[in-house]
Order: sequence, then structure tokens, then C-alpha cells
Amino acid sequence: MPEIVLGIESSCDEMAAAVVRRGTEILASVVQGQVQVHQPYGGVVPELASRDHVRAISQVVSSALQQAAVAERELSGVAVTVGPGLLGSLLVGLSFGKALAYRLGIPVVGVHHLAGHLAAAELCAEELRPPYIGLVVSGGHTALYRIEEGAAPALLGETRDDAVGEAFDKVAKLLGLPYPGGPALSKIAERGDPRAVGFPRPMQEEPGFDFSYSGLKTAVALEVESRRSLDDAAVADIAASFEAAATEVLVSRARRALREQGIGRLAVVGGVAANRLLRRSTAAAASKDGFSAFFPPPEFCTDNAVMIASAGAHLLRRGLRDGLDLTCFSRVPLSEGRWAGGGGA
Ligand code: KG4
Ligand code: ZN
Repeated sequence: MPEIVLGIESSCDEMAAAVVRRGTEILASVVQGQVQVHQPYGGVVPELASRDHVRAISQVVSSALQQAAVAERELSGVAVTVGPGLLGSLLVGLSFGKALAYRLGIPVVGVHHLAGHLAAAELCAEELRPPYIGLVVSGGHTALYRIEEGAAPALLGETRDDAVGEAFDKVAKLLGLPYPGGPALSKIAERGDPRAVGFPRPMQEEPGFDFSYSGLKTAVALEVESRRSLDDAAVADIAASFEAAATEVLVSRARRALREQGIGRLAVVGGVAANRLLRRSTAAAASKDGFSAFFPPPEFCTDNAVMIASAGAHLLRRGLRDGLDLTCFSRVPLSEGRWAGGGGA
């Protein structure tokens, strides 16, 4: 029987379920966002996120199975995100996944959210094989990892304060753009001049691989405050200048990691990897420096369950199984290795 894994992802404000065959063949992917729930508050309200997940999960899982034309009894395992993320949200997916696996008499396996993001890149590009550098850029994380076959991902550096996606979201709010901020900011930035305001490029010249985004966010806040009013053109210019600074730092830190680690492949994953400027400037750096850059298609950069099903399938293939005592974590390092699916231990 071909191995068919159901993936469930509910770590933040997306409820997602997916069905993947043999770890790589996508049979179904359903993602249900919560824009209407959180928009009035300008950001994710954790309690409302978990309540909405409770309402949505049964339907989202059923839709995924239906889309895949797979019956429950054909499933060989359930993979579920165990962290990092919002505990209330994680618990919904975890409890549902464990109960379903128990009822069907099949294994359940916990997947690290970032291992999932990395697995999305491997799934989408056969040529992406370890060793490679993984640049994880999302709403909660900004980090560089060295991914080696048969070893836990090694953390090279990470943000000391805000994540880059968080900076996109906060700057969008400062500019009066609607939640979710990152995509809205990026859209308006297309009409602006990236050289209009010379924002700082934090950490760009520092040794090591850490990042910092709170200073850049403050610089934007000061710029906004210094202006009496903001017309559409000013918003577009500030958005474009911020986006240029935020993405330039990512590309230059990634180039440094590739150079110093002597590696020729880069995978950029997580919600911010959907950003068009980041994709364009990484591709330009890749052709200049002679490395290969891999990005999942945009729908698999932002949170989805295909990446969880795929990472989970690798873990199940290695014989890993979790019990009904499987729990979830608001913070848990990927470098620990236990949940490292994509190319990891
Ligand atoms: O991976 P993800 O869906 O969820 C987390 O694990 O955090 O990433 C969400 C983040 C948000 O901060 C969102 O604003 C950002 O990714 N994002 C973008 C774009 N699309 C999503 N940021 C910049 N440009 C985009 N096109
Ligand atoms: Zn994510």
C-alpha cells in the first residue's frame, strides 16, 4: 500500500490540512485563514484564533480527504505541528490529530513547524539536497541553518529581537495598512521609490549570522512621526524603502553564510519567502555569486499543511512514532533534532 499521510497545521492563524503520498506527491491542500476574525484588531488575537480553529478543523480535514479522494482507512499516518506557535492554536490540531490516529489505529507523529517550512523547499525542488543553507523568514522566526544529511539542523544565527515578518506586519500597521500586513505592504511598495528614505541595514556588516529588526522598525516609526501627514505616495515610498532595507539584510547575511560555510545551495522558506523583492534579489545574488537558490511556490511559503505532511512522512519512514502523550510547545529549538524533518536528523 502506498504510504499516505494526513498533515495538520494550526500553529497560528491558519487552519490547514493536506494529504501527501510517498512524502512528495501532493494529493490535497486546504488552508483556511482567519482574516475576518483578526482584521478588526489589526493583528492575531490568540484566544480568537484557537476558537476559530475548533470551529474549522473537522471541515478542513474532511475537505482535504475529499479533495484527495482518499478514505480515512487509506491513511497510513497523521503528522501534526507541535510547535513553535500559539499554544491554544497548536492544541486544537494536536488533539484532533491524536484522536483521529487513535480511532484509525495508525501512528501519529509530531512535526516542528520550521522543519515543515524546510521540507516545503525540498518537496518542491528535487535538486535541493543537503548540504544546504536554510534561511527561515516568517512572522515568528528569522534564522539561518546549516542543513546536513543525517544531522540535526545547525543554527548559524537568528534574530536578536523582532522577526522580519513581524517587522513587515508592524510597519504595515504604522502605515495604516490592513492586517495581514506583509503582503499589503509589499503590494503598495511596488508603487514606491526604494531610495526615497535611507533606512538602516541592521547587522549587515557585523560578523556572524545574527539579525535584528527592531531598530529598523523604530526608524520607520520615527520617519512616520516626522511627517505631518502621509499621502498615498509617501506611504508607498516608505513601504518600498523599508522593504528594500529589510530584504537587503536577508540577502547579504545569506550570502555570507554560503561563502563562509562553503555551501552552494540556499533554500529560503517561511511566509516572507513569498515576498517578490526578496525572491528577485536572491535570484540576482545567486547568478552573481554562482550559488543555487530555491524558494517554494508562494502558497507553500506561507503556513500550509503540505509541508507538515511531507516532513511527517520522512519521520514516519525513519520509524519515528509518537504516543498519545505527545504534547505541544510555544517555543522549541529546531536544532534539537527530534522534530527535524527536512533533511535533518
Ligand atoms: O510562515 P508564516 O505563514 O507564519 C509563521 O510561521 O509566522 O509567515 C507569516 C509572515 C507574516 O509576518 C506575513 O506578513 C509575512 O509572513 N508575509 C510576507 C509576505 N507574505 C507573507 N511578508 C512580506 N511579503 C510578502 N509577500
Ligand atoms: Zn510558518
